[in-house]
Amino acid sequence: MMTQPLDTIALSDVIGAEIRDIDLAHIDDATFTAIHDVWIRFQVLRFRNQKLTDAKLVAFSRRFGELDIAPPNENGTRDVEGFPEILVISNVVEDGVEIGSLGSGEAAWHTDMSYIPTPPIGSVLYAWEVPRRGGSTGFLNMYRVLETMPDSLRRKIEGRYIKHDATTNSAGYLRAGTENSDDVRTSPGTAHPIIITHPETGRDTLYLGRRHRAYVVDMDVDASEALLGELWSHTNQKEFTWHQEWSVGDLVMWDNRCTMHRRDAFDSKDRRIMHRTQIKGCALIADDRKSKTRRSTASL
Ligand code: OGA
Ligand code: MN
Repeated sequence: MMTQPLDTIALSDVIGAEIRDIDLAHIDDATFTAIHDVWIRFQVLRFRNQKLTDAKLVAFSRRFGELDIAPPNENGTRDVEGFPEILVISNVVEDGVEIGSLGSGEAAWHTDMSYIPTPPIGSVLYAWEVPRRGGSTGFLNMYRVLETMPDSLRRKIEGRYIKHDATTNSAGYLRAGTENSDDVRTSPGTAHPIIITHPETGRDTLYLGRRHRAYVVDMDVDASEALLGELWSHTNQKEFTWHQEWSVGDLVMWDNRCTMHRRDAFDSKDRRIMHRTQIKGCALIADDRKSKTRRSTASL
């Protein structure tokens, strides 16, 4: 069987590509390999006009690797009967119960689940219903952030680790089973190298996770806050970002190792329903030129 070359266009000059005229419910292995290559290169992929059942969404996602079982939602229950891999992101309330996570508010820049030792390598978000306005999802190119970082700042983070806080999720909700703690040095979480090497591209990238309650290991809290402040203000620049404006049937997936994402708020009276999967990860690799001395502190 002949495999057609992919019809690919860049979505911006910083991040993201759209692959057009493709039905993700029916792709062969060669097409998958080509899609995977574009994903690694552009970090974020968009496919429009998809018609995917939950089974097809799971099957497509699973080609990228084993899937995580979705974390329990804010009600402590599963979202989709029969598909434990699917997490619903939604503000919709049915019979007084929220059918998904994250509500309708803004979600600040983050990497998914950086607070665990093996964060997912990527996430797949598929739009079932979208609000009339707002609710866009922004993506940030973390390779570019590191490449453009002043040397003076880069020198301050080489070999260092950030502890990623596990107490709240990306919408600021307290995660099930955690207690609120104000001490960034002792709150639960996982330390990862600040500069990591992407295992598939071999390129160094910046790994920040979330700003909230982050802590640069082995520093005074004030010095850690100051360094994080510098890092986040360099990172949070429009020139590193592109925003996805959703239509029903859009599927967007990101490489969680070299991107961050955020979401704009939208009118809580509008409905937004996304079905989402997450591809299992492994431990992050430190940029190995400078990190040797600090590895001992990595398992905080
Ligand atoms: C996510 C996420 C944002 C959005 O699914 O991990 O952060 O736009 N979603 O729904
Ligand atoms: Mn997220």
